[in-house]
Amino acid sequence: MEKVLFVTTEMADFVKAGGLGDVSAALPRALAKYDDIRVLIPGYPNVINSGRPMRMIGRTRSYHKLPACNIAEMETDDGLKVLVLCNADLYEREGSPYTDANGHGWPDNDVRFATLSRAAADIALQRAQIQWHPDLLHLNDWPCALAALYLDGESDAFPTVLTIHNLAYQGVFPAPTARYVGVPADHVAKERPERVSFLHEGISAATYLTTVSECYAKQITEPTYGCGLEAILRKRSQEGRLIGIVNGVDPSWNPRSDPALVKPFSIGHWDDRDENTRRLRDEFGLHQQQGPLFAVVSRMVQQKGVDLICEAAPQIIAAGGQLVLIGRGDPSIERTIKRLSRRFHGRVAAHIGFEEGLARRMFAGSDFLLMPSRYEPCGLSQMYAQAYGCLPIAHATGGLMDTIEDGITGLLFRDATVGDLRRCLQRAFRVFAEPMLLNAMRGAAMLEKRGWDGPGRKYAALYHRMLPQKVAA
Ligand code: ADP
Ligand code: GLC
Repeated sequence: MEKVLFVTTEMADFVKAGGLGDVSAALPRALAKYDDIRVLIPGYPNVINSGRPMRMIGRTRSYHKLPACNIAEMETDDGLKVLVLCNADLYEREGSPYTDANGHGWPDNDVRFATLSRAAADIALQRAQIQWHPDLLHLNDWPCALAALYLDGESDAFPTVLTIHNLAYQGVFPAPTARYVGVPADHVAKERPERVSFLHEGISAATYLTTVSECYAKQITEPTYGCGLEAILRKRSQEGRLIGIVNGVDPSWNPRSDPALVKPFSIGHWDDRDENTRRLRDEFGLHQQQGPLFAVVSRMVQQKGVDLICEAAPQIIAAGGQLVLIGRGDPSIERTIKRLSRRFHGRVAAHIGFEEGLARRMFAGSDFLLMPSRYEPCGLSQMYAQAYGCLPIAHATGGLMDTIEDGITGLLFRDATVGDLRRCLQRAFRVFAEPMLLNAMRGAAMLEKRGWDGPGRKYAALYHRMLPQKVAA
């Protein structure tokens, strides 16, 4: 059994800002079958106050401007061991892992996340006074990426996997950051000498890179989706070091047993599903009517194309549809959504914020999920929707392409434009008007088998490939 430290800034058990939280809760559990896996997460208030007993097991030293931290260990109810990086000044703040309550990034995010990366490297190098010694680090996104660089500087051989969940977030800071987080001066990007990019450092130094779908793994080697890092990603891909592994779906996403639903249902029992639709309309104060109900469950950001949905909303309403939205994000997008729900009272309704149970009822009660993402590394919402018989309508990009079969388990459109979205909406209305087709598509979507076993096996195989001496043992 390999010993793997999975380093993350979100975990749905405690805190999540998006899909990374879901993945970090599910993937380590799937991997526990194959490996001795522990999760390392900062000690945010929701972690520290989770009510689970914590025991101090180690301590890291200070490094340049990065402070020393304690490391505690706790266990989830199902036995997953979680290491908590404790530093009240850095992590015990109200807000999201990355921003204050008003959505502004914390000004010391460079120190906060370099400290996390440094702690991961120290644990790997057996310098954190912990008895458990990992064979491999699995890092996620820019906040953990520097760990690969720290290890590269000290131990060429220590294996690291860096998973890119979203290339658009790179952790780019002014050049002086390099000095106080311990990035060598000659690493400051030559093309942008005033900047240091945590993700760029990680991409260069990690043993293997993965991203969360096969399509996105190809797309990010091209300028359109490469966010300026396409050259280094192409190089790593040509070396055979960039791999796409599509995310899975946690077993809790089961409409037969989900306690959040008004009425459980299964394939063919569409009357039970209809009951969820009726109650969802009531819950959101929408009129009870015959037409299709479209849902949006999303961070309200440019990536997700919510602005395209807002533009197309009047067409949905004019054609007899309704729209229900949940999520938060960009204040200007939130304002547009609120305006729409006032203008189309009873036909558009929104919950600005996030509530897991409500999101689940939306998947169970809506007919279609709108996901016109401009880019989508994987996307989990479309898979949750499919599991609940809600057909995704999505831009054919990234993980959406890998997980939606056009005309069978959802509808895809070519370009992220209002024009293409509108045409796809017309298709959706036609599908809705043919109950046999609609139900066949719902059934096909619900039959997709998307647990974490498959992706878990792929990650486990990658770990084994990186630690050949263990396989022989
Ligand atoms: P992304 O990670 O880009 O937001 P995904 O589709 O992979 O997109 O994952 C979205 C996950 O986050 C789903 O579990 C969804 O229900 C949840 N989610 C959506 N909006 C929010 C939000 N504003 N706050 C917290 N979680 C959210
Ligand atoms: C990111 C991506 C999303 C992906 C999620 C989990 O937030 O935007 O596409 O599903 O990470 O990997």
